[in-house]
Amino acid sequence: MAQQGRTVQKHQRTGHLPPWRLAPTRCSIAYGQIDLWRFRLDLPDNTLPELTRLLSADEYRRFSRQLDPTNAKRLMVARARMRQILGSYLQRPPEELAFAYGKKGKPGLGDSGRDKLAFNLAHSGVWGVLAVTAGMPVGVDVEKFDTQLEPLTLARQFLPAEQVDVLRQTPACRQRRVFFRAWTATEARLKMTGEGLTSVLEPSAQMQNSTSRPFTVGRGYLGAIAAAGQIGELRRWKLSEG
Ligand SMILES: CC(C)(COP(=O)(O)OP(=O)(O)OC[C@H]1O[C@@H](n2cnc3c(N)ncnc32)[C@H](O)[C@@H]1OP(=O)(O)O)[C@@H](O)C(=O)NCCC(=O)NCCS
Repeated sequence: MAQQGRTVQKHQRTGHLPPWRLAPTRCSIAYGQIDLWRFRLDLPDNTLPELTRLLSADEYRRFSRQLDPTNAKRLMVARARMRQILGSYLQRPPEELAFAYGKKGKPGLGDSGRDKLAFNLAHSGVWGVLAVTAGMPVGVDVEKFDTQLEPLTLARQFLPAEQVDVLRQTPACRQRRVFFRAWTATEARLKMTGEGLTSVLEPSAQMQNSTSRPFTVGRGYLGAIAAAGQIGELRRWKLSEG
């Protein structure tokens, strides 16, 4: 415990995030803390039935409609993991959780759990990430680092003018990474508010007043979280080794 305390202090001093640690089976969270969870979505087919049984009929129907079967499986795994993780905070069976949806589709807890937890899910490629906190809206984004994309072209389309200027002044060899950092932070802020991608170029006051932190998920994947308040302690949990 003393060792863990020293480690947290060191991370806070250096501004680095703590490593991904194996998750406890029961979790709790306080205001200002944020837990980030990462989990693989490319699980072997024989593990799927025990996860898909956790989904509601609506969720199962929605994900089954995906044309790409690999994508459908990954979306189901992500939603099942989200249920398991939230269940471990609420000490409720994952399959009993009910979600309510904002105007643009942001899921939240639909019953008494709403007062206790805020959360947001993101998935990209083989990784899913869930951010969990208490008492303030949170958003998360994760993106697979695409080495082919043209950062300046995309930035002109999707980022505000001042960020395009920053990118223009960035050496070419760093532009892609800088674009991804800016993009994931923007999308995390947007997901925090629950607004759709339409509001990227006209950020709301809530988006502008939010705080954001970048993080890496696994090799080749970048992420960001955003919260409507100060981000205090940030813990990172993984569901299995790897
Ligand atoms: C939210 C949004 C930015 C996510 O983009 P993405 O990069 O494709 O997906 P991510 O992996 O980052 O996140 C997806 C998850 O975010 C959550 N989510 C869905 N809508 C959300 C919203 N409006 N705000 C925050 N989170 C949202 C869901 O948990 C979703 O995963 P799931 O459906 O598998 O459970 C994008 O889907 C969007 O703009 N949605 C709004 C659509 C809209 O405006 N609809 C009009 C009215 S219906």
